[in-house]
Amino acid sequence: MSATFEPEVVAFCCRHCAYAAADLAGSARQAYPTAVKVIELPCTGRIDIINLLHAFENGADGVLIAGCLEGKCHYLKGNLHARQRVRHVQKLMDDIGLEHERARMINISAAMGVQFAQLAGEHVETVRKLGPSPLRPKPRSGEAA
Ligand code: FES
Repeated sequence: MSATFEPEVVAFCCRHCAYAAADLAGSARQAYPTAVKVIELPCTGRIDIINLLHAFENGADGVLIAGCLEGKCHYLKGNLHARQRVRHVQKLMDDIGLEHERARMINISAAMGVQFAQLAGEHVETVRKLGPSPLRPKPRSGEAA
């Protein structure tokens, strides 16, 4: 593993909570790694297994799924369905030899900007220790790795 490895983590964030928490973290100057690329969703219940697998296929080293606190989903059970899908993806990852720790789900409220920054940073560190995803597209000849 390269000493300069900078992981890429895609964070699928619910608009009602995690996206707002990420925004709050930014405005409160609670830094989280630039490796975290935030994608806003109407609800984590919108996330599908194929979205998570595509993130890895497209070069992510890790994914973070961030939804509302349990019992607080604006669509009632979206975050519970998302958790089931994340567990399913983690099993698929184990089956293909990709460390399931690369996928993590968290539940936070819009007021938890500090916690968002902390949990996102923790996940980046976990992924950094695992190294680059073996599913990362290989650079074409002539391109820098
Ligand atoms: Fe936030 Fe469903 S509305 S997870």
